[in-house]
Amino acid sequence: MKIGIVGGTGREGRGLAVRWAKSGHDVFIGSRQTEKGVAKAAEFAEEFGVSLQGGDNASACAYAELIVVTVPYGAHRATFETIKDSVGEKIVVDITVPLQPPKVRSVNLPEGKAAALEARSYLADGARLVAALHHISSELLSDPEHQFDCDVLVCGDDKEARASVISIVSDLGLRGVDAGVLKNAIALESLTPVLLHINRRYKSEGSGIRVTGIPETE
Ligand SMILES: NC(=O)c1ccc[n+]([C@@H]2O[C@H](COP(=O)([O-])OP(=O)(O)OC[C@H]3O[C@@H](n4cnc5c(N)ncnc54)[C@H](OP(=O)(O)O)[C@@H]3O)[C@@H](O)[C@H]2O)c1
Repeated sequence: MKIGIVGGTGREGRGLAVRWAKSGHDVFIGSRQTEKGVAKAAEFAEEFGVSLQGGDNASACAYAELIVVTVPYGAHRATFETIKDSVGEKIVVDITVPLQPPKVRSVNLPEGKAAALEARSYLADGARLVAALHHISSELLSDPEHQFDCDVLVCGDDKEARASVISIVSDLGLRGVDAGVLKNAIALESLTPVLLHINRRYKSEGSGIRVTGIPETE
């Protein structure tokens, strides 16, 4: 699948791009600046021995069949404003956690209750917005040797879009779990500060969430 990563020059973008490229997807790294997108794609490609394209965020959206947004919450609204006309009916995956530095270990409910609910309000009616990957450490994603034993909770109002995202999540070496409607992003986004607290308390590199009790047949 052609995947465009908006803000793909950053920490999460790097790990996602490399893992998806290694599993056979065509990945385009987007940036606010064309030159930075091109340079970071070349840098990550050389570092990890994969093939990547890069450019600006609009080009990433135009190229992609599925768009992933990986920007800090402080840049969330502005980023969606710049891409909203390039999205069309493509699935958009928002991984944003509305952290409020420096208090990143305590829950911050934004005005719209979740970054993903705010994102949907910035897009046209019928946009296929999915929220996922809030609990996956960029450091572990960027370590090709690391094998995950945690899950990715995936929510959104379009069941088929959730299934598509669960499928590409499995290509990262992670199990995706259908976590229901987009409103559930309030719970998913709120768990990240809890995990950041746990990381500090127990000196863990990247604590995660594992859902038990799901039948093997799923
Ligand atoms: N890091 C993690 O372990 C982790 C885990 C789970 C979820 N998340 C979430 O994933 C999102 C991205 O996290 P990240 O750690 O990848 O972020 P990051 O590295 O700090 O930034 C990602 C990219 O966002 C772009 N950007 C756009 N506007 C920006 C602004 N005003 N200030 C700074 N950067 C801006 C930059 O790309 P250009 O300059 O190229 O435009 C930057 O490379 C966040 O919402 C975070 O909560 C992160």
